[in-house]
Amino acid sequence: MLLHQITCAFFFLIITIVQCDNHFNIHGPFGKHHSIKNVPSPYGCNRTYGISFPSISLPSMNIMELNVSSTFYVSNQQIIVTWPTISLSCNDDFIGIYFIDIPLLTGACGYFDYEFIQTNQTSMSWQMINLRRPLEFRYYSREKNCAGNYSFVAKSTFVQPLNYNIPEQIHLAYSDRIDQMFVSYVTNSSEYIPECQYGLDPSLLQWHVQGTTITYKASDMCEGQANIPGPQTFIDPGYMHTIILEDIRPSTTYFYRVGNDQHGWSSVRSFTNRPADDINAKVTLIAYGDMGAAPVQPGAKSTMDRVRAQVMTNNITCVLHIGDISYARGIGALWDAFMTQIDPIASYVPYMVGIGNHEYDHVTGGDKDPSGAPGPGGFRPPWGDYGYDSGGECAVPMVRRFHSPSNGNGLFWYSFDVGPVHIVYYSTEHDFLPSSPQHAWLEHDLSSVNRSRTPWLIVGSHRPMYSSIVRDVGDSIKVMLQISLEPMFYKYHVDLNLFAHIHSYERSCPMYQGKCVDDGITHILIGMAGHNLDFDTYTGAKWSLYHDQQFGYTQISANRTYLRFTYHHNVDDAIIDEFELRK
Ligand SMILES: *[C@@H]1O[C@H](CO)[C@@H](O)[C@H](O)[C@H]1NC(C)=O
Ligand SMILES: *[C@@H]1O[C@H](CO)[C@@H](O)[C@H](O)[C@H]1NC(C)=O
Ligand SMILES: *[C@@H]1O[C@H](CO)[C@@H](O)[C@H](O)[C@H]1NC(C)=O
Ligand SMILES: *[C@@H]1O[C@H](CO)[C@@H](O)[C@H](O)[C@H]1NC(C)=O
Ligand SMILES: *[C@@H]1O[C@H](CO)[C@@H](O)[C@H](O)[C@H]1NC(C)=O
Ligand SMILES: *[C@@H]1O[C@H](CO)[C@@H](O)[C@H](O)[C@H]1NC(C)=O
Ligand SMILES: *[C@@H]1O[C@H](CO)[C@@H](O)[C@H](O)[C@H]1NC(C)=O
Ligand SMILES: *[C@@H]1O[C@H](CO)[C@@H](O)[C@H](O)[C@H]1NC(C)=O
Ligand SMILES: [Fe+2]
Repeated sequence: MLLHQITCAFFFLIITIVQCDNHFNIHGPFGKHHSIKNVPSPYGCNRTYGISFPSISLPSMNIMELNVSSTFYVSNQQIIVTWPTISLSCNDDFIGIYFIDIPLLTGACGYFDYEFIQTNQTSMSWQMINLRRPLEFRYYSREKNCAGNYSFVAKSTFVQPLNYNIPEQIHLAYSDRIDQMFVSYVTNSSEYIPECQYGLDPSLLQWHVQGTTITYKASDMCEGQANIPGPQTFIDPGYMHTIILEDIRPSTTYFYRVGNDQHGWSSVRSFTNRPADDINAKVTLIAYGDMGAAPVQPGAKSTMDRVRAQVMTNNITCVLHIGDISYARGIGALWDAFMTQIDPIASYVPYMVGIGNHEYDHVTGGDKDPSGAPGPGGFRPPWGDYGYDSGGECAVPMVRRFHSPSNGNGLFWYSFDVGPVHIVYYSTEHDFLPSSPQHAWLEHDLSSVNRSRTPWLIVGSHRPMYSSIVRDVGDSIKVMLQISLEPMFYKYHVDLNLFAHIHSYERSCPMYQGKCVDDGITHILIGMAGHNLDFDTYTGAKWSLYHDQQFGYTQISANRTYLRFTYHHNVDDAIIDEFELRK
């Protein structure tokens, strides 16, 4: 109440109009943890559909100031917002972060992220990400003894990135040849020549190479909220720059930085290239699916912390993320949050992504689909449950950001060698039936693997071919994968089949057609990297050797004769499940 008296006494009280229906929030990208799924978002803010307001004119007025600890920031910096002590009585009062051109009076719900204000609270911390436009914090409070609409109470000065064109979201990926590496990053500039300087010594980056720039618009995506500009839908993604390093040596550590003299350079990073056809080569891969951005997805931070520690200390060769990457689903700022989150890992080891339902699945707009799948919504057999899971993105933000070898169909299916391991990514979101182009490509790829060069054969995709969760007993996609692909995988002696989509861990015996056999395929569900865990009961199938429902990641170490697979819990990094295979 006191707040309202202060506000009324000194300033005009301004009323914003919001729809009066409650709704449950989708979380934002600025480090705010809205932990309980069913906590309502600010009163009447319906993030699912966007809100339109009648416009009100802004009277001349003074607006109370929110103090910020810094007006310029770099990514991941915490900004502290402070305000004078005031007693509040409304549970719905909140501070949000906004693009500065979102209308003050009608735009209360046009935030990127928000935090409710507790009684007597006078400060709040925000973890910044660079959205390439000035931002401001605003304070909205409900009037009429907390029964009314929001009134606009206070705002901060603009806060901005220290350098709009500082390289952000740096990440690496393998290309077609072992002597190549993709280096990608984002800035705000289209008038920009991206460069990478690199060398064998961090203080002598003697080589340099230039790259190319792309972006995408709302209209480049298939449908739905991905097509709608707005703070909780499409935002200008900036410009994605990609450089390809050539003639790099195997098993060699390179130091590099990206940027240019005009706009500034990143810090120096390093990577060790994958080994060549070397009889003593040993590689260590990290693999998981279904992670998302912290703290939206509750396990993402602990996974990233553990994986970062592994990358810094244990000679990790690359990371495999097999679908359900950012869970942005049409909320553009979540891509920025996700790519910022993986930079400390992905700028040191190649980050190889596969396609999931939350990147790709769409219902209409098929002419925009970068995978070239026929029809308005791609593969939608009557027995599947393929839906609108990408929020209309149909993989466009994913294919503009990430790179891969080009021996298949872009990011949708492709293969690559990492030392003694041949890795094949296939798509469970595309036609995989025996008549399909993907099936033919898989047959061709698997049949051309030289098992003297790469004794280990690992395939990975998003949806499970096997799961002993009771809820999945009747899952038709699982059954169709078993019918369409398992005989081929068995014929070509696939060692491991990795998949995710269900948010837990499960490992089979080496098996074929549901029965443990000596020369079978080990199926491993690794969907426990960050999204809410699935808690289910299990059928007790004999082939299921281990299952577990906690956040974690997996590691695969292999030389030519020996492969060790370990599953680690994030909470203590303990190895919870492991097995070995020998050739
Ligand atoms: C959000 O708004 C849409 C469109 O106005 C409406 O159909 C839907 O019921 C609202 N959702 C909630 C949870 O209020
Ligand atoms: C804002 O914060 C700074 C630093 O803490 C402080 O010096 C200044 O007095 C504050 N201004 C207001 C208006 O509270
Ligand atoms: C808020 O501050 C007032 C005045 O100091 C105090 O009486 C009240 O108990 C505080 N409320 C809470 C919930 O801490
Ligand atoms: C909120 O604003 C709308 C539009 O002006 C108005 O119809 C409605 O009565 C207001 N609600 C309350 C509780 O004041
Ligand atoms: C960022 O990019 C946008 C779109 O290209 C441009 O309008 C804006 O001026 C740029 N901002 C800065 C500070 O360079
Ligand atoms: C592979 O690793 C195993 C276990 O560390 C070791 O016993 C074996 O000698 C290694 N083989 C090669 C070819 O390096
Ligand atoms: C990482 O690789 C370097 C160079 O090959 C080696 O000296 C070091 O022992 C390795 N570290 C681990 C933890 O395997
Ligand atoms: C398979 O790889 C081995 C070892 O690199 C090589 O000697 C052999 O010629 C290759 N076979 C074919 C068919 O390319
Ligand atoms: Fe999924």
